[in-house]
Amino acid sequence: MALTPRLPMHRREMMRWLGSACLVATGMGASGSAYAQPLPGLDVAARRTGRRFGFAIDPAYADQEPVKSLLEQHAGVITAENAMKWRSIEGIFGFPDYTRADRVAEMAANLHAELRGHTLAWHQSTPAYLANVTPQVFVRAQTAHLQAMAQRYAGRIHTWDVLNEVVDADSKRGDGLRESVLSKLWGTDQYPALFELARAADPLAKLAYNDYGMEQDEPWCERRRSAVLFMLEDWVKRKTPVDVMGLQAHLDTSRRFSASKLSRFFDELRALGLCIQITELDVRDTQVSGNLIERDAEVAALYREFLDTCVGHPSVEMVVMWNVTDSDSWVNRWRQGQRRADGQPMRPTLFDPQGQAKAAFGAVATTLRSTQVKFDKTMVRHT
Ligand code: XIL
Repeated sequence: MALTPRLPMHRREMMRWLGSACLVATGMGASGSAYAQPLPGLDVAARRTGRRFGFAIDPAYADQEPVKSLLEQHAGVITAENAMKWRSIEGIFGFPDYTRADRVAEMAANLHAELRGHTLAWHQSTPAYLANVTPQVFVRAQTAHLQAMAQRYAGRIHTWDVLNEVVDADSKRGDGLRESVLSKLWGTDQYPALFELARAADPLAKLAYNDYGMEQDEPWCERRRSAVLFMLEDWVKRKTPVDVMGLQAHLDTSRRFSASKLSRFFDELRALGLCIQITELDVRDTQVSGNLIERDAEVAALYREFLDTCVGHPSVEMVVMWNVTDSDSWVNRWRQGQRRADGQPMRPTLFDPQGQAKAAFGAVATTLRSTQVKFDKTMVRHT
């Protein structure tokens, strides 16, 4: 979406051109205006092929502009970025506080959006006070937390991320599973039991295993894909009620991408009877040089290639962005080692810090609107 006019223009003409380009880009134009041609929202575009589109949010910024309007325009799915994590709920043992989680559920309902629950078990969101308890105490606490969450939101959750990030293809264990508080105190063999508990507590929710680092074409991604498939095959043999593979899709333009390899991975998941949700999409421009237009173009190109593959596959059910604008993106907020050498903030989302649509928005909108491949509802396991 080029916002720079190539020919000199009269100032008034220029303002009108820029205004209409922005309105078209954001789809936020006042109706009735002579030149406003609001784009359909992204969720509307996704619904054409039976899919949904949405965002992870936190009440801290989701109530404020520009995020508020962007959600009204484009969100058909809401994930709580942090508010439903165990550490956020139960900072003090025995005193759960659901205020922020309830607020996210309420926001999703007000937007008529589906609610994704994130996440019932994850080593990083396990409260620190449980790190050194006995397995017996841990199992009791994890079970109680899982049941309390699943029962509280039962009937309101489209999909629960039951278990998050347990694969570590380079771990010393040799089975491709991560060493963590969960492997130590819950037990890797017992991971399927988490899904059984979730199914019993909320029989209507789809149940997902969610993980990162499987979308691009690097040797470590290949190892992670193999490890995940190995684990899921075992779970399916054991009749685990897992319905969905959640692919986080924290992408980076400095990594290679192969549409054919990703598509083959989707086929392998489909052969196991799992459908696919893209759960935390963003694109880092860690190593892209140049001005903002050049950087945004490179980010947009990867969005395009990746999403073309996703919505070109019948197993992909929804696409959820991790955050709404570049200023609320965790990539710019959460210091986790990977920064740009020039110290500039990254441009990972669809909207700039002012809420203006970037080239990535155009790439996503075009991709969602051009696919003819429908989501195949019939293959959902839902055991
Ligand atoms: C991140 C949040 O965005 C941060 O605000 C928080 O500090 C850490 O967690 N994978 C996940 C998400 O499953 O829950 C993470 O969210 C990002 C990586």
